[in-house]
Amino acid sequence: MDSKRDLLAIDDFTPEELRSIIQWGIAAKQDDGLFDEFMPLHGMTIGSIYEKPSTRTRVSFEVGIDKLGGNPLTLLKGDIQLGKSESIEDTAAVLSRYLGAITYRCFAHSDVELLANGSSVPVINALSDLHHPCQAAADMMTILENFDDVSEVKVAWVGDGNNVLHDLMLGAAALGMKMYYAVPKGFEPNEDVVNRARILANDSGGEIKLTHDPIEAVKDANVIYTDVFISMGEEHMKDKMKAFDNFQVNEELVAHADHDYIFMHCLPAHRGEEVTDGVIDSSNSVVFDQAENRMWAQMSVMTFLIHPVAWEAFSELH
Ligand code: CP
Ligand code: NVA
Repeated sequence: MDSKRDLLAIDDFTPEELRSIIQWGIAAKQDDGLFDEFMPLHGMTIGSIYEKPSTRTRVSFEVGIDKLGGNPLTLLKGDIQLGKSESIEDTAAVLSRYLGAITYRCFAHSDVELLANGSSVPVINALSDLHHPCQAAADMMTILENFDDVSEVKVAWVGDGNNVLHDLMLGAAALGMKMYYAVPKGFEPNEDVVNRARILANDSGGEIKLTHDPIEAVKDANVIYTDVFISMGEEHMKDKMKAFDNFQVNEELVAHADHDYIFMHCLPAHRGEEVTDGVIDSSNSVVFDQAENRMWAQMSVMTFLIHPVAWEAFSELH
């Protein structure tokens, strides 16, 4: 049997795989009726473990698994033995005997690595403190839906150097986009992730650029992206907010972007903090398309990892 593959960070896929996985998601979205007959996860249960709250990830996985003919099983950390009387590795080995794949939302990225190491079935990172690859897959899909030639696209991140930026940067670099990220001094993204993104950008013709000036990032940008300044698990770090005084995405800032720019946010948004109502509710905003695309992109990711033959067959038909 081929060794199983996991998705812990978006660069676990090659750039070619990422592009095809996204195209598959776009094709699936356009042909929803197909899922009455195409059921690659039939007879399988996919488990999802949550250590943190979730609306989009949980619902999009549950509904997506159901569309693919599988059974979703959501496991809240408080209800299972994990981390109390059982190690992550033992949990992984046990769950592998029942499930077709495991998704895991955790605090420390090393925990999802441990789960993947102990599991004989694919593990999908449903958000850790370091990576959010499912978000990036949906984000790349949303950008591809909006722009024919992504090599001409400039993506501007304004905000914290966090998990969502990490995978956005890796995905954008893999697909050859120009990525400017504006973060306050002291809130830069993880250095190893930036280096990986730079290598991908070198190969794809993309660009990765750090600035501390939101206007420089946003100037003529086609995509403006922000996220909360305080992520889950950082609730005790309220002081952090002071550093983000000039990093709100508001009407004044977006005036520097290309006229047809799109506004993106992984959600949930803290309106009035990182973004104003005027921007997130404007006709440039695609935040609810992004949320929907979580489901289609994850359906592609799950089929690719769990049933690659079915994934390929679907690809050939579309
Ligand atoms: N964007 C995202 O992951 O949302 P949830 O926290 O609601 O899953
Ligand atoms: N950066 C945020 C993303 C939430 C989807 C967090 O980790 O809380």
